[in-house]
Amino acid sequence: EIMVALIVAVAAAVSVYIFIYYNFLKGVKCKSDVSLNGRTVIVTGANTGIGKETALDMARRGARVVLACRSKDRAEAAVLDIRRKTSNNQVVFMHLDLASLKSVRAFAETFLKSEPQLHILINNAGKRCVKLGKTEDGFSMGVGVNHFGHFLLTNLLLERLKQCVPSRVVVLASETYRMVGLDFSKLSRTEPGHTNGFLDYAHSKLCNVLFARELSNRLEGTNVTCYSVHPGVVNTEVFRHLNRWLMLILVPVAALLFRDPEGGAQTSIHCAVQEGIERFSGRYFSDCRVREVVAHARDDAVARKLWEFSERMVGLSNKAIHPVMLLDSFLFVYKEEKSSRKIDGNRVIMQRFVSVKFSPLG
Ligand SMILES: NC(=O)c1ccc[n+]([C@@H]2O[C@H](COP(=O)([O-])OP(=O)(O)OC[C@H]3O[C@@H](n4cnc5c(N)ncnc54)[C@H](OP(=O)(O)O)[C@@H]3O)[C@@H](O)[C@H]2O)c1
Ligand SMILES: *[C@@H]1O[C@H](CO)[C@@H](O)[C@H](O)[C@H]1NC(C)=O
Repeated sequence: EIMVALIVAVAAAVSVYIFIYYNFLKGVKCKSDVSLNGRTVIVTGANTGIGKETALDMARRGARVVLACRSKDRAEAAVLDIRRKTSNNQVVFMHLDLASLKSVRAFAETFLKSEPQLHILINNAGKRCVKLGKTEDGFSMGVGVNHFGHFLLTNLLLERLKQCVPSRVVVLASETYRMVGLDFSKLSRTEPGHTNGFLDYAHSKLCNVLFARELSNRLEGTNVTCYSVHPGVVNTEVFRHLNRWLMLILVPVAALLFRDPEGGAQTSIHCAVQEGIERFSGRYFSDCRVREVVAHARDDAVARKLWEFSERMVGLSNKAIHPVMLLDSFLFVYKEEKSSRKIDGNRVIMQRFVSVKFSPLG
């Protein structure tokens, strides 16, 4: 009898898990069956995780897919695997290290010389560090790779995208964007930058959301559209930098509760191919649906400021960073204000973001 009860309990637990997995964890699948024959796609960081699954899907649809990666060995292994699974031999590797603006420029030059077309650019690569490093150009690692590298890359490829309309840019962001306010002093390379790898990552993801917003504003009327994406909480190598003890806990939790990379790629795929979402250009998607972002991530004035600031940081604008301009930028530092109030007898936490003045000159 105990045996029967045990079996029933285990069966119940397994069914509950399967129910939760398919309804909440696995996520929504992209429904489009659009073919990408004759189209060219770039996926950055496509040798593993969400990027590899995204590239695999693009290859299945018949696209020519460029895997833009920093490690030749890892990327070539992925190229072989994707070719084998899809029988599409139009899958190629091109070297790109987003931690170096020089490498970004070299990639763009090679790509523009050798590839006549570009229809879909997927800015997928993402760096999350525990120990804070700096990029070749002196940016903190997360912001440098995730935002500035992709910012320059997109700008250098924009003309080609405009020649191949309708075309799209997909930017991998993350829900962590909510956890920080935009602080220009932490983006610049002359300042000490971030003190914490997680904040650096979250900050870069806020930049990604604002970047997609401003890019779509600038592209209005061109038929090039862009979208930012939260892929879900996905079991990839993004956690590989955590220490051994954290990994020990995280590995089983991730295996059970996180989305698999194929599920994590669905919203990127949706934003790359789904017809009829063009009117949502500049917006943020998760689970293949458009979502509202918090107020400080949809402020057009801040998004424009970030764009102009980034242009100067990556050397796209030859205007020097005038101290007044810098000071002006610092006016857009956001601080979160929390207060609690009683409404109808319940205590409610009120959150709002306010801009505060911040002078780098003290
Ligand atoms: N996993 C999640 O739960 C989650 C949640 C929210 C958002 N995201 C976002 O989704 C995107 C994909 O993440 P993932 O989970 O698939 O991560 P992942 O498994 O760690 O893959 C990241 C990819 O980015 C590449 N990369 C890192 N630094 C690079 C550089 N300097 N130049 C070029 N490529 C570089 C990596 O290349 P190497 O293999 O050579 O390092 C790898 O191919 C990221 O933008 C991430 O922020 C993920
Ligand atoms: C954008 O697409 C529409 C609808 O296909 C077309 O009428 C228009 O001419 C296009 N505009 C540009 C700038 O390509």
